Amino acid sequence: MSKKNLAYVALAVLMVATLALGACGKQAEEPKLEIFSWWTGGGEAEGLTAMYGIFTAKHPDIEIINATVAGGAGSNAKAVLATRMQAGDPPDSFQVHAGHELIDSWVKAEKMEPLTKFFKDNGWLDKYPQGVIDILSYGGDIWSVPVNIHRSNVLWYNKAIFADNGLQPPTTLAEFFTVADALQAKGIVPLSLGDSGIWTVTHLFESVLLGSMGPAKYRGLWDGTTDWNGPEVKSALESLSKMLGYVNTDHASLEWQPATKLVADGDAAMNVMGDWAEGYFKTLGFTPDVEFGYVPSPGTAGSFLMLSDSFGLPKGAKHPENAKLWLELCGSKEGQDAFNPIKGSIPARTDGDLALYDVYLQSAMADFASNEIVPSLAHGAAAAEGWVTAINDTLTLFVADKDVAKAQTSMAKACVDAGMCK
Ligand code: GAL
Repeated sequence: MSKKNLAYVALAVLMVATLALGACGKQAEEPKLEIFSWWTGGGEAEGLTAMYGIFTAKHPDIEIINATVAGGAGSNAKAVLATRMQAGDPPDSFQVHAGHELIDSWVKAEKMEPLTKFFKDNGWLDKYPQGVIDILSYGGDIWSVPVNIHRSNVLWYNKAIFADNGLQPPTTLAEFFTVADALQAKGIVPLSLGDSGIWTVTHLFESVLLGSMGPAKYRGLWDGTTDWNGPEVKSALESLSKMLGYVNTDHASLEWQPATKLVADGDAAMNVMGDWAEGYFKTLGFTPDVEFGYVPSPGTAGSFLMLSDSFGLPKGAKHPENAKLWLELCGSKEGQDAFNPIKGSIPARTDGDLALYDVYLQSAMADFASNEIVPSLAHGAAAAEGWVTAINDTLTLFVADKDVAKAQTSMAKACVDAGMCK
């Protein structure tokens, strides 16, 4: 072969090789999808399974790896997630609260892929309330897909106990204590609590803060315009201290579900919990407005303490295309209308099918559309993770020593440390 011909053959071989590489260079993704969440409890696990069912029907060849870490409010899951993210081993998509938890923990740390184009391509920009888009946004981009809206400030109560004792559910903090005294006098545990994870006390506290100062001042706590050293925070801590005197004696050894179950079983009268408790009540076979009732937590009528579970796409996900298929489902009307009626939450979208939602959830939808919306502290909406942890730590001590002045000083410092107060 002449030198020239040899050169042609070499070139041809190179071209074929390049083409072949091009074709397989974009290697098809493994048919797997790892979803990380803390949804293991009654109601939440069933809701997730319903979404997985739809996903599998649409994409039968993709295997879902259900990576869950038990512990309400992500009390264990968040640490596991942080370790994995630091090690460069992110799940394909993970549950994260909209607001500061998403933005401060992951977006500012440049660990997430922007999803603005994804929202546009799916035609979602006008399908969500602007307030929801706002808390998913940072630096001009949207960073996760919200699957629901939860309400934190709900007082659940056992209807039979209230009826049998001629009581009305309390609407103010003062009424709460009157009712609690009446119940205690009858030997009934007034308020159930399960603070084996301190987040449930923080959860109760955010309701008490809101009930003690109203939505405008409550909002101001998170941007430094409401004084943490002021009289309202003091009064909230005093109320919390007093409330802790009405709880079940085994509170420190219970998680949120057993605490909610005390109300379901008639072993306690009331419980302040987010509306995932509604999903849980329903898995126990109870019906809203029949065995259990619900009112805004004392003093908070007209305000909706909100949080939202969302899913994002971490940088370095092993199956990003499959993750996008998951996110597509999370953001869809079909996905949200399958998940939320079971989960005890309302759709984050504005076009949910009302007929699928029970009487409680319909009332939550109406309130979400008309109330003052304020962000939850315990569930990542109001403040960055470090600030939430500082308040959790303060409340851990407070449950034991009930020292109002010490707790207030420590919370005021937490605001300074978070960079929001001087
Ligand atoms: C919240 C979460 C809810 C629910 C709850 C109890 O933080 O947003 O979806 O799972 O914790 O685990």
